[in-house]
Amino acid sequence: AASTDYQAETATVSQGAVASNHTGYTGTGFVDYTNIAGSYVEFSVSAAATGTAQLTFRYANGTTVNRPMDITVNGNSAALNLSFGATADWDTWADQTISVTLNAGTNTVRATATTANGGPNLDRLRVTGQSDSTAPTT
Ligand code: GCU
Repeated sequence: AASTDYQAETATVSQGAVASNHTGYTGTGFVDYTNIAGSYVEFSVSAAATGTAQLTFRYANGTTVNRPMDITVNGNSAALNLSFGATADWDTWADQTISVTLNAGTNTVRATATTANGGPNLDRLRVTGQSDSTAPTT
């Protein structure tokens, strides 16, 4: 598949809640991180082969303040304090993309808030650039 989407509302959430009180999300909702450092969403990402992939996080941040997060892949740091800057409002979504290496098989991708504001509202993770014969396709 050219890309595979993983909805935040079906991922593992620590210190956050699934919500749908804003518009424009995909799937059935989004994750509203608790406003606390250390809150995270963890995705289980399937890859058919080891190689480079792009991780695109779709998020909203209706404040004027960056909500940085650390991104890990299989427990290893992939991006420190990745910026999730302001969007126009909580109904407006933006993409933040990084390039990572995925292993063949199942990978754990975790996005952890690094400030007391917590993370942005997180809609989904889109994985592109690797072939995946098992995950649902969009
Ligand atoms: C508001 C907004 C939430 C958001 C929260 C936050 O309450 O409605 O969707 O998660 O701010 O600051 O994180």
